Amino acid sequence: MIKTSLDQAKQRLELAQNSDDLEAWRLEVLGRQGSVTAMMRGIGELPPEIRKEFGKQVNLARKQLESAYEDATANINTGGNHSSDVLDVTLPGTPTLRGGLHPITVVRRQILDVFTRLGFTTVEGPEVEQDSYNFGKLRIPADHPARDMWDTFWLNEQTSDEKLLLRTHTSPMQIRYMEAHPTPPIRIAVPGRCYRYEATDATHEWMLEQVELLAIDKGITLANLKGTLQEWARQMFGAKRKIMMRHSYFPFVEPGVEVAIDCFKCDGSERDCGICRGSGWLELLGAGMVHPDIIRDAGYDPTIYTGFAAGMGVERIAMVLQGVTDIRHYHSNRFSFLSQF
Ligand code: FA5
Repeated sequence: MIKTSLDQAKQRLELAQNSDDLEAWRLEVLGRQGSVTAMMRGIGELPPEIRKEFGKQVNLARKQLESAYEDATANINTGGNHSSDVLDVTLPGTPTLRGGLHPITVVRRQILDVFTRLGFTTVEGPEVEQDSYNFGKLRIPADHPARDMWDTFWLNEQTSDEKLLLRTHTSPMQIRYMEAHPTPPIRIAVPGRCYRYEATDATHEWMLEQVELLAIDKGITLANLKGTLQEWARQMFGAKRKIMMRHSYFPFVEPGVEVAIDCFKCDGSERDCGICRGSGWLELLGAGMVHPDIIRDAGYDPTIYTGFAAGMGVERIAMVLQGVTDIRHYHSNRFSFLSQF
């Protein structure tokens, strides 16, 4: 009798489709008014000779049914079809986050793509630099006021008698590349990180990326510099953006220039604009004709060879392309910012 009731209860449990069915089954079988509970209550009224054996059997049946009920509940909760190894391919998958390139990486690659098309080869140099390459060989001696423009982080270690620092610009690679290549022509683009010990604001960071350009050959003039940068700007920003070139000073070029682009935030209409401060322009790069002393120090004859150089800020260019109004977002590592790109 117990065996029959047990089998019937199990069969009915297998028919349960959802948690409502399960609850109805539980009340009917294991609940206070349930069939198993009724059997257990009746044990005391049985003749003593069968009471013990009957009690044992009912207890066993109750345990089996409780465990079958738990299995069925787990199955229904996990969407299983009464069998834990059934795979429901219609269930939505677990979403995985997709990675992406950092916005600065994207823009660095865009810049280098344009210069590659214009005939420049990409090379890289050290971020930990010697004093002489970052300053001295670029005609910036220890007491030169231009050092103030490039205040930097010094390292405790020294090489021989030279102080080491985190480079403030990619211009040291001009010297390193010329020293390693005894004969022009040279046409290189040098991407890399630079560091400056300075107060930050919407257009200044203490860590920035630059791309340096260096072209040395017979007969290179300022017109080549202008044409190269104009074509680069046209390919980067489109023909509608305004580019301005004006004179500037860098000890390692003569003459020196800087290039700015029209302000994408206020177009010069806001006096307290964080991007242009009301001037209408955002500086993107410094450039100029390589100083003849530097050409000579490299072992080239400055009466035969001339050249131009430029150094541009990748974050500033990214700000223009991506409409980012504060440079400090880029390296803040905030996922909400980065996941927009
Ligand atoms: C230089 O670093 C020169 N080495 C550029 C150069 C190369 C001139 C070759 C002549 C010949 P400057 O300090 O102006 O120049 O920096 C160049 C560009 O880097 C700036 O126009 C700007 O776009 C970017 N930049 C400079 N300082 C910062 C900063 N703190 N945060 C973000 N971008 C910066």
